[in-house]
Amino acid sequence: MLISQGVFAQSENVAVTRYDNALEIFHPVRASGGMVASEQVLASQVGADILQQGGNAIDAAVAVGFALAVVLPNAGNLGGGGFMLVREAKSASTYALDFRETAPSAATREMFLNDSGQVIPGKSTRTPYSVAVPGTVAGLTFAAKQYGSLPLARLLAPAIKLAEDGFIVSPVLAQQFSLQRKHLERWPSTKEVFFKRLPDSVDCILSECPSSSLTTYSAGERLLQPDLARTLRTIARLGADGFYKGEIAKRIVDTLSSTTRPMSLSDLEQYRVAQREPVKGIYRGVEVLSMPAPSSGGVHLIQMLNMLEGFPLSEYGAGSAQTIHLIAESARLAYADRAEYLGDPDFVKVPQRGLTSKVYANRLSANIQQNRATLSKQVRAGPAGDFESEQTTHFSVMDRMGNVVSCTYTLNLNFGSGIVARGTGVLLNNEMDDFSAKPGAPNAFGLLGGSANAIEPGKRPLSSMSPVIMLKDGQPWIATGTPGGARIITTVLQIILNTIDFKMNIAEALSMPRVHHQWMPDYLRIERGISPDTIQLLKDKGHEVRVMPTMGRVQTVQQQGHMFFGASDPRNPDGAAIGIESMQ
Ligand code: GLY
Repeated sequence: MLISQGVFAQSENVAVTRYDNALEIFHPVRASGGMVASEQVLASQVGADILQQGGNAIDAAVAVGFALAVVLPNAGNLGGGGFMLVREAKSASTYALDFRETAPSAATREMFLNDSGQVIPGKSTRTPYSVAVPGTVAGLTFAAKQYGSLPLARLLAPAIKLAEDGFIVSPVLAQQFSLQRKHLERWPSTKEVFFKRLPDSVDCILSECPSSSLTTYSAGERLLQPDLARTLRTIARLGADGFYKGEIAKRIVDTLSSTTRPMSLSDLEQYRVAQREPVKGIYRGVEVLSMPAPSSGGVHLIQMLNMLEGFPLSEYGAGSAQTIHLIAESARLAYADRAEYLGDPDFVKVPQRGLTSKVYANRLSANIQQNRATLSKQVRAGPAGDFESEQTTHFSVMDRMGNVVSCTYTLNLNFGSGIVARGTGVLLNNEMDDFSAKPGAPNAFGLLGGSANAIEPGKRPLSSMSPVIMLKDGQPWIATGTPGGARIITTVLQIILNTIDFKMNIAEALSMPRVHHQWMPDYLRIERGISPDTIQLLKDKGHEVRVMPTMGRVQTVQQQGHMFFGASDPRNPDGAAIGIESMQ
């Protein structure tokens, strides 16, 4: 096994392999038999083991998805939803699986508003009403059945073992438990899973202990999740029905019910995965495939690439003020369109063809001034017919048969709603916040939305998740993606520019400082590492520049000839790319 990135990963007694190139500072892992990259070394190892046992990339991805639900509880999940792109070697086709959560049947357009029509703070993020019908179990089991080669029980076995035997909490996870303590300890069923009694505290059962008697898990301690292990075993035995019907479904519904029933048994029973056509673009000859609506990710990624194609970015250089200015201006225009047009295509007409057309992009980019930032308040959607949460997660897998998976899934905010369905170990999402509670009112990511993304029963909330597969000459080249809420789309954009325009290897591409603009609020967010004179040039163009926390935790795999490369974002020391050697 070969492994890359991460202090925590390196302490796991595995060899760190580097490849040599005189021009490069950062180096991806390389291997000849396949590659897995995820945000948690234990989950990447699960995926690599499945590849080693003869499973294909889809088998490995499904096993990683279940394992992350155990070892990355703040983002990996059974109680959330997401999107998976599958490139199937056999059919040489790419499929887009939409397992985004849906609004329950009791949901209404005004459910998060008070009598005077104002948004009720927190109702869409930290209450039983914030929970949408989960899609992850349906999505992962669908992928395994449709494109996998191993029995589902084999793919769940490693996750069951990690839940049952426990795993060592990393410093990163311990910090998340501590930071989110006040949200988690509100729910008795959550206390049972993620808290311990203090040694000299009063005798109490965990779910009823006062806060003063409890503590969260520290780095180096072992976290066991027996309830989650039982839930995973039920899914291994019964498939998705084990989750959406029977005891687990009943526990989800009962946990959320107090006086009213925000979710019903039939909401769970009726949940279905949607198979969609990937959204496609060509950027400087490379085919870019990503997720269509209800994610806004793919559409606006391709829209921005189309706008940027008209500029000689490689001449301007990576990290130059001119390149950053153009990224910001194209993002400003794209995010204005996002707020106006994007929603669930099963409920509203999304002008996807217009938004991703090169002609439309040329019209928009003709208004970009090379030396002047536009004011966002002067930008409206075109005629196409801080919250510091990064708590989504992404994993990418390639096998040597030519299968590729790029998957982003989420609970929305850190640990989702914070509510564990009683006795199941399943943390539930707070994805209802991704709807627009009221036109013009920002969500937790500061994103604005309109009536296209209004709440309706059965509808899927708009997302920014942008799993990407790139093809060169029709062959898989790169699979990538990231968490980061609103910043996902611009983060993935910069990985594409770094690899195509600036010809970086994937580890270098991940290491570069990132920038972000989302139209409203009107400022240019940057990471530390952009030089002061570059910042001054950006200010001279009229940008308000703010240095803020890091953005994204990208997980990328790449195939070049017969070799595979992997890189896990250095922004998260828990992540790892792990390769396997060819068995021949
Ligand atoms: N929950 C964040 C997103 O879907 O974009």
